Amino acid sequence: MAEEKWVMMVTAQTPTNIAVIKYWGKRDEVRILPINDSISVTLDPDHLCTLTTVAVSPSFDRDRMWLNGKEISLSGSRYQNCLREIRSRGDDVEDKEKGIKIEKKDWEKLHLHIASHNNFPTAAGLASSAAGFACLVFALAKLMNVNEDPSQLSAIARQGSGSACRSLFGGFVKWNMGNKEDGSDSVAVQLVDDKHWDDLVIIIAVVSSREKERSSTSGMRESVETSLLLQHRAKEVVPERIVQMEEAIKNRDFTSFTKLTCADSNQFHAVCMDTSPPIFYMNDTSHRIISLVEKWNRSASTPEIAYTFDAGPNAVLIARNRKVAVELLQGLLYCFPPKPDTDMKSYVLGDASIVKEAGVEGELPQGIKDKIGRQDQKGEVSYFICSKAGRGPVVLQDQTQALLHPQTGLPK
Ligand code: DP6
Repeated sequence: MAEEKWVMMVTAQTPTNIAVIKYWGKRDEVRILPINDSISVTLDPDHLCTLTTVAVSPSFDRDRMWLNGKEISLSGSRYQNCLREIRSRGDDVEDKEKGIKIEKKDWEKLHLHIASHNNFPTAAGLASSAAGFACLVFALAKLMNVNEDPSQLSAIARQGSGSACRSLFGGFVKWNMGNKEDGSDSVAVQLVDDKHWDDLVIIIAVVSSREKERSSTSGMRESVETSLLLQHRAKEVVPERIVQMEEAIKNRDFTSFTKLTCADSNQFHAVCMDTSPPIFYMNDTSHRIISLVEKWNRSASTPEIAYTFDAGPNAVLIARNRKVAVELLQGLLYCFPPKPDTDMKSYVLGDASIVKEAGVEGELPQGIKDKIGRQDQKGEVSYFICSKAGRGPVVLQDQTQALLHPQTGLPK
């Protein structure tokens, strides 16, 4: 290894994902091994993603990380486990142009700088840890020339945050719970890529929340300890649902997909209620959105919208196609209008063409009013994001997007 003060770095972009069959409960807290399989859809990274730059240099004296511009500690066991696992798989790296040569054994001694940034507000409660750990592991694997496939990398990302393992792929992804004690078979696999079912449009309602919710990690621990419904769910309900969901996705069967997605979200929240003390992740606005969608689907000849809620009040709505999505957005904006001082550009983020098509000015067509029914009380939605299923992680070649300075390896 040359002794010069070089810095070598890689920048990657990784999507976030939303589960349609939920992961809730661990059988091993340290290795992060789940009690059931789960399935998710990866969200378009143009709208929701994490950008991470990882750098290595002989001049770094310790591992350091900055998250959204603020330095954070890497001492937690989840970071340490990911770093240890990925370091042990590093291989020889050579950059002849810069005269850099790193040997496999050097990775144990060399220190890393990591800078990570979400393109959506972290406080919105949109699975930022999933994209974050997936991006960390993916970027380090590229930097260290780790020769493993995305499924093997998913088993490392899983040790940062369970749901992160599903962010190593685009499209629809399954996390196999596995049954080995060491967790080596608890990996994510891609079911289909993002082109397979590209009619779907995803609208996220970021719902304001007054209270700080219990984290997924502690919430699911309490559910494992106290909820009988969770045991029943993991043993008797999810295995069959997983088979049915895989079929629905393969056949692009929206009716079955909606039935399973909504039922699984509702059962997950029922498990939270069955936990002692009970956990309430959804709030009145979340419940109003569920009612709106249920009414909408009943008024249509076949279901047109699926909903799912994670460990927070935000609604993730999956519309059958663009036509439904445009009408849905019109209905949502009617029920949850922006505050008078908020302009539409900052109230509906993501794919702007849907807002344009929705033509949000003017009176809501009677047909849509009939679908959503009376919605007297205005809810509290902070903003909406229009998105779709998206691709998996990529390395960004454009060095100007790097979050670390190419000479110093410090945040720009
Ligand atoms: C409700 O992956 O955040 O989003 O493994 O403890 O980090 P840890 O939990 P986390 O839990 C996600 C729970 C969920 C459902 C899901 O994504 O499957």
